[in-house]
Amino acid sequence: MGKVVIIGAGHVGSHCAYALAIQAIAGQIILIDIDEKKAEQQAQDIADASCYFSQNIQIRSGSYDDCKSADIVVIAAGAPRKPIQRPDGSFIPMPRLELMAESIRTMQDIIPKLKASGFAGIIIGITNPADVVINYIDKHMGYPSNRVFGTGTGLDTARLKRYLAEAAGRPVCQVGCIAMGEHGDSQIAPISQMTVDNRPISETDTIDCGQVAKLARTTGGRVIAGKGSTEFGIGTVLADLVRAILNDEQRQIPVSALLTGQYGVKGVHAGVPAVIGRGGIEKVIELDLTAEELEAFQSSCTVIQSYAEKADLIDWPLNGPK
Ligand code: 2OP
Repeated sequence: MGKVVIIGAGHVGSHCAYALAIQAIAGQIILIDIDEKKAEQQAQDIADASCYFSQNIQIRSGSYDDCKSADIVVIAAGAPRKPIQRPDGSFIPMPRLELMAESIRTMQDIIPKLKASGFAGIIIGITNPADVVINYIDKHMGYPSNRVFGTGTGLDTARLKRYLAEAAGRPVCQVGCIAMGEHGDSQIAPISQMTVDNRPISETDTIDCGQVAKLARTTGGRVIAGKGSTEFGIGTVLADLVRAILNDEQRQIPVSALLTGQYGVKGVHAGVPAVIGRGGIEKVIELDLTAEELEAFQSSCTVIQSYAEKADLIDWPLNGPK
């Protein structure tokens, strides 16, 4: 079974570790955090469930020395979206993009340590703003880009499926759809890709696709406003990605991938369907979007690109690469 190192042992990283362990997807799961005590106790807490795991799973805290022999490194380190107060006194979580400067500084600490560790596997980024951060990691790791991608709109797609199924009155396994673009407010939910019982959604359907898309797009904010962070959904999405890699499933999954001309976009990571296997991204899938959907996707990529350019302007610490 595979070895996975998770950098960041907070709500997201610990739930990624638990999802991997309870599904016996990886045999070794290592948690790293600047708060070493937290990493250790998160691992201990998960290990308390070991006797219920279907396999003998080794879960512990560790260090960057554990990365050299790892198959996958998951980067989940970073601050959660903080609540901001609206004029009416209610609170909403800050937009993911406002986390960028703090997240990039966290990456400027992680990237040199990861490069120095001799790690040569696959990097999966979760830290928000997810598309901007994984793009930054890709630029500075100097790695083949098919091995550096993010969970991106995988979580948004899971949410979209849930709401589309509810609206259609069908089990979630009977609907198809995909969220694309930014893991954030500018994401798109193309109706041309929505199906119920393997039948495309048509004008005669009474499903309010706009409302379904809005519910999916805003779920993260509602959950964070209510409990401070999201964790179960993203942990499960990450575990599914890791399973596809370790088992070489060659399965189509939405990820934040570097686009090299697909959908008319170059040089930015954005949520698109990709074939995922042992080598990471085996292929980015180009869906047949309507002209309007393609334009909205490209606009979302422009939002991501604008922040990626700002990220490049954030100075490295004195000891970091220029
Ligand atoms: C989410 O959408 C926090 O970006 C994370 O749940």
